[in-house]
Amino acid sequence: MILKTLVENTSVSSDYKHKHGMCFYIETGNHKILFDLGKNGLFLKNAKKMGIDITDIDIVIISHGHVDHGGALKLFLKNNHSAKIYIRDNAFDKHYTKFLGFKIDIGIDSGLKYHPQVVLTGQRTVLADGLILFSDIETRKYNSTSNNALFAKVGKDILVDDFLHEQSLIISENEKLILIAGCSHTGIINIKSKAEHIVNDNISYVIAGFHLYNPVSKRTESNALIQKIAERLNNNSTHYYTCHCTGKKAFYKMKEVLSERLTYLSTGSEIEI
Ligand SMILES: [Fe+2]
Ligand SMILES: [Fe+2]
Repeated sequence: MILKTLVENTSVSSDYKHKHGMCFYIETGNHKILFDLGKNGLFLKNAKKMGIDITDIDIVIISHGHVDHGGALKLFLKNNHSAKIYIRDNAFDKHYTKFLGFKIDIGIDSGLKYHPQVVLTGQRTVLADGLILFSDIETRKYNSTSNNALFAKVGKDILVDDFLHEQSLIISENEKLILIAGCSHTGIINIKSKAEHIVNDNISYVIAGFHLYNPVSKRTESNALIQKIAERLNNNSTHYYTCHCTGKKAFYKMKEVLSERLTYLSTGSEIEI
């Protein structure tokens, strides 16, 4: 499997522009996938630079209903008329963050919910051989406190987000199990445990943001929480690639525990698993 980072908060070099958000190009034996799209047209520019033809993409997964992951959906649909877009139905609900008493809209365009290329997913969806989407995370251990500033509109009420609109992907290829998640709002420990329960095996690679940094308040989670998460992730059988909402400060803190088994993915990076 080849993975190229088209959008992330940082870049490998000045050749690539970067932006807060996430978009991965994933090439398996049978599919060309975009996991998230970022907020704007940056994924198109960087795809061109990295030799990716957007019309070749056959699967798009939007991890959750936040603009830095699904804001570019309309642009993608203008450039590709055949790929299926897999997204949780409630990802199109209104989503907000609150900061200093202000409510900021961070949702995605709900007008696209019934677009013919959009497939609304349930709690578990088998996309194809070796590709499973899941979102049924029951436990919320090691929860990032910055989730408390994130809200969803439920009926007429605006409530703290339960993140049931977040989904993650398991890729099973060449006897390797790869977990890909967006911001891990439901907690990377919980998501990884669920994935291992689904496949009844250890996950060999995790590629995800860990949501340890709040980009609005610019606050990093406590050292104690970061340390606990890193210790729980620390085993000899998994390599972690992280980026985006992990934040650089938390990344370096986690690296003290996970050492060479933790790698940062910036815009323009390419890995082969
Ligand atoms: Fe998010
Ligand atoms: Fe995000």
